[in-house]
Amino acid sequence: MNIDTSALFAPIVINGHVLKNRLSVAPMTRVTATQDGRATEKMTRYYERFARGGFGAVSTEGIYTDQAFSQGYHDQPGLSDDAQANAWKPVVNGIKSHGSFAIAQVMHAGAISQGNRHRDATVGPSPIQPKGEQMAFYNGKGRYALPGEMTEDQIADAIRSFAEAAGRAVDTAGFDAVEIHGANGYLLDQFLTDYANRRTDRWGGSTENRARLILETFKAVRAKVGAKVPVGVRISQGKVNDFGHKWADAERDAEIIFGSLADAGADFIHVTEYEAWKPAFHSSGRSLMRLAKDFAPRATIFANGGLHDIAQAVTALDDGADIVTIARGALANPDLPKRLSSRDALSAFDPTILGPIANIKETELAM
Ligand SMILES: Cc1cc2nc3c(=O)[nH]c(=O)nc-3n(C[C@H](O)[C@H](O)[C@H](O)COP(=O)(O)O)c2cc1C
Repeated sequence: MNIDTSALFAPIVINGHVLKNRLSVAPMTRVTATQDGRATEKMTRYYERFARGGFGAVSTEGIYTDQAFSQGYHDQPGLSDDAQANAWKPVVNGIKSHGSFAIAQVMHAGAISQGNRHRDATVGPSPIQPKGEQMAFYNGKGRYALPGEMTEDQIADAIRSFAEAAGRAVDTAGFDAVEIHGANGYLLDQFLTDYANRRTDRWGGSTENRARLILETFKAVRAKVGAKVPVGVRISQGKVNDFGHKWADAERDAEIIFGSLADAGADFIHVTEYEAWKPAFHSSGRSLMRLAKDFAPRATIFANGGLHDIAQAVTALDDGADIVTIARGALANPDLPKRLSSRDALSAFDPTILGPIANIKETELAM
């Protein structure tokens, strides 16, 4: 490989915590927990490989927060009680034992939950049929259920559960940081999305109102974990059930969303697009990572999407990104940073790893 990758290996400080490089594993749901949501020994081996392979940070998959409506998938891990929190300890220790930074991603699936042992029904901002179909590789089939409209009490419960799950992530499991999943079509993004949120109360209508649940969740998590723990939010336009969605007010929406997260004190913002370097709205406009940096200059910007293209990963650091996160490229190359250091070629991602079910395969762990 003939690219100068040294910029990817410069350390960076997030809220007083040093990350040894700019390469992070993006969150990936692998449905390999126990049926009751406890992380497994297989998951410990899976996550540790990325840290051993040199990634400066490793993010978990989306972890559900409560024993009500948050769980999205069967065999998804949770942080909804102490037993689940304790089960994360070996995973966190494995990540940290190689000097990598351990990030817990907390999520609520909302209207696109397709497997929840605690509830048969789903909830969302409004009783609107979600677009798309359930994901077969997470044991889903057919259309999503029609969600119930969340009451004020249910919204308050969801916010509280994010905070409590984040508290368990840090205090019990030992994670270094918390990422709130505000992206990809899950509950917080459903509130942000104009067609999914038809509420006429303070949680719907203007972009400011639709972003309120993300902000209130951030503030509750911050209050729970304190000022010293890095807390960030993942934001996207596209969704697992609507890849091409764009914010209607384009850069003005970006300013409201990223600016309000900055004002609230987000330590990091994780933006994801299909190809991170592409203009977010118009053929010649700014990328989403650039917009995040411009409207939240003090936040560390994590950028994601196609950045296993290492030339693009290096360029991203000049286009608003502080850290690049890699998903499919990390599955193909759990030792990607080490390969870059030793100038070894990267392997291409093989999608059969994720079939027929996206659970962790022993063949991967042998890589
Ligand atoms: C198997 C798989 C599971 C994923 N699960 C999550 C998840 O739990 N949370 C999340 O925020 N993104 C999830 N993603 C999205 C990735 O984090 C990432 O945004 C996407 O794969 C694009 O990045 P890439 O081009 O580096 O693969 C998942 C992606 C894959 C391939």
